Amino acid sequence: MSVGQSAELEELFQPASVAVVGASNKPGKVGTSLFRNILQAGFRGVVYPVNPSSKSVSGVRCYPSIADLPEAPELGIVIVPAPIVADVVDQLGTAGTKGLVVITSGFREVGEAGAVLEAEVVRRAARYRMSLVGPNCFGVLNTHPDVSLNATFSENLPRRGNIAFVSQSGALCSGILAYGIAERIGFSRFVSVGNRAGVDENDLLRSLGRDEATKVILLYVESLADGRKFLEAARDVTEHKPVLVIKSGRTAVGERAALSHTGSLAQSGRDQLYDALFEQSGVMRADTLGDLFRTAKIFATGLALDGPRLVILTNSGGPGIVAADAAIRNGLELPPLPVAVQQELTRRLPSIAAVSNPLDMTADVPPSAYHDTLQTLLSSPEIHAALVIATPTGTMTGDAVAQSVVQVKSEVAKPIIACLFGLTDLSREVRILEDNGIPAFTFPEEAVQGLGSLARYHAWRTRPRTEVRSFPVDRQAVRETLERAQRSGTTVLPEYAARSLLAAYGIAFPKVARVTTVDEAVGAADAIGYPVVMKVASPDISHKTDVGGVAVGLQDSTMVRGAWQRMQESLRKAAPTARIEGFEVEAQISGGKEVLIGVQRDSGFGPIVVFGMGGIYVEVLRDVTFRLAPLRQLSAQHMVESIKAFALLKGVRGEAPSDIPALEEAIERVSQLAVDLPQVSELDINPMIVRPAGKGVVAVDARVVLAPSSR
Ligand code: ACO
Repeated sequence: MSVGQSAELEELFQPASVAVVGASNKPGKVGTSLFRNILQAGFRGVVYPVNPSSKSVSGVRCYPSIADLPEAPELGIVIVPAPIVADVVDQLGTAGTKGLVVITSGFREVGEAGAVLEAEVVRRAARYRMSLVGPNCFGVLNTHPDVSLNATFSENLPRRGNIAFVSQSGALCSGILAYGIAERIGFSRFVSVGNRAGVDENDLLRSLGRDEATKVILLYVESLADGRKFLEAARDVTEHKPVLVIKSGRTAVGERAALSHTGSLAQSGRDQLYDALFEQSGVMRADTLGDLFRTAKIFATGLALDGPRLVILTNSGGPGIVAADAAIRNGLELPPLPVAVQQELTRRLPSIAAVSNPLDMTADVPPSAYHDTLQTLLSSPEIHAALVIATPTGTMTGDAVAQSVVQVKSEVAKPIIACLFGLTDLSREVRILEDNGIPAFTFPEEAVQGLGSLARYHAWRTRPRTEVRSFPVDRQAVRETLERAQRSGTTVLPEYAARSLLAAYGIAFPKVARVTTVDEAVGAADAIGYPVVMKVASPDISHKTDVGGVAVGLQDSTMVRGAWQRMQESLRKAAPTARIEGFEVEAQISGGKEVLIGVQRDSGFGPIVVFGMGGIYVEVLRDVTFRLAPLRQLSAQHMVESIKAFALLKGVRGEAPSDIPALEEAIERVSQLAVDLPQVSELDINPMIVRPAGKGVVAVDARVVLAPSSR
């Protein structure tokens, strides 16, 4: 939150007085249309045009300067050329104005010179503790009847409603306002944040979260001002209000071909970080603007689902089946109808009706059948919501169906969504339904998708609340490992150091012994138990396999001796100058499933935990998921459940299930390390072997990179 900004941002949304600096009479100018819009919307406060070259603007007395105004305006809208904006801010600040909306373009978005101007505007706004929206924005709008402020340059004043819209694109705002009017979508507040030099989406989330007139918040973002702050703000708001987001730029992420470790995975999957962030904060991401507004329309009715069980009631087979498919895709359930319900409906409906779910009443039922059947269905505690589909037939009018459905709405308090499929000129029917809190759609999939979002939001609000767990850590081992790395001046920790760091956080590794002679190697292998793996230990070799520095599957002492011999020869040839510190003999882990756990850092998102299918297929399958650290227990569980390979971890074809609780705990331990040790810039455990249930997880290979400054 910027200096001076109030939690509710009332200086922006509920000003008693507004000065429009640069208000104009000249046709086609931004200052002309914005001032006229304020008048036309019927602003309940006082509005002052300010312009040295006019006596009046749109018939309202105009003031030559801010100093000439009879009172300090609570909000200043600035529409003068960029080079003079900072001076205008000074004048408003001196007068005592607290809210500032800078419409003017020509700042950071145009390059260095603009950025300098913008910094000056920000500095001056901060000096007077003003809340700044913009610059380079489309304005703000509040439809509350006590305010009625349209300080945008769109003359399309939307219907009053309970949807708030925050947009990083000004052009999108004007399109959405026009669309909203055509679709009868009602807005509470509307904000274009422009360059976000002051107020950003995080401030707006918090203030809209508190606004009683707002029941659902929509965001259009191209980037987030601060991913961490977004997580905190959104998590609070989604506890009591749904937040839907369009994050554009899904495909702008570079799809890099070669992926060798989690570092590049995180980079190429930056969009997945947004998915993670939205997932962790309960924000629902829409793929298209159409989806965003259709879903918003459902939330705006205040409908809430108590569970995922849906019934589909239709008078035709095909659309019912399409809807059923969409329901399953959207995470809803179509339970079989309870026996008592089936019996009653079989008695009442035509014998050719399919009394199941979807329930096809057939084409020749009268409109009243919608009421009677729907009422019976929704009275069952087994059913949480209904989708009603009506397609044209000779026996009924859309009107009558709409009335019939509306009647049920007043009798049963459960969500009903309508799909008027193939009926022409819907305006009347849609109005009957929507005026009575039943959102209506043309296609079944659209209706079901919205219901799916209601169900997801219900699941979010009723999720088990878990904590970020804190595990005991061997702090001394951590300190020693990091100090040693610092002294040696290395950023990539040698493998044994990486292991000791992770072991200090409770990550298990196979038994290992450091040896320097072949006899020691055999002795160690005998003690550990066969089969063993032998690896070279050298600060100069990071890809050991490439230089013949790894031997696996050593079943007895003879094999250990043979491998030792071969390794010496290949190292002499492939890495003649490498410093060899010794060799590691370790137990070879067999069986189990290979996964990876990693840590990445992102300037906007902070520490990120990466989890996915591991081993050699990671690059091809890219079955990975991300979450921002620290992770709560439930997030670790969701990470494991969200990868495709989860089915393998559960066990297929009679296989024993893997130790999933141990895996989840390992993810949480790595998350703790990521938060505790900011000097760890990258961490990779790949593969980590997940053994059968009860047998735990074992890290086989680990790589830790320190940030250069921590050397
Ligand atoms: N105090 C009050 N009024 C002043 C002052 C001052 N200190 N200085 C100048 N003015 C008046 C001028 O006299 C002029 O009045 P007039 O129209 O009666 O002649 C008015 O302010 C505007 O000044 P102009 O120099 O004529 O500038 P113009 O109107 O051409 O452009 C504007 C100003 C609109 C702010 C322009 O610089 C701009 O930024 N345009 C882009 C706006 C925009 O698109 N913003 C992003 C929206 S988001 C989206 O993408 C849709």
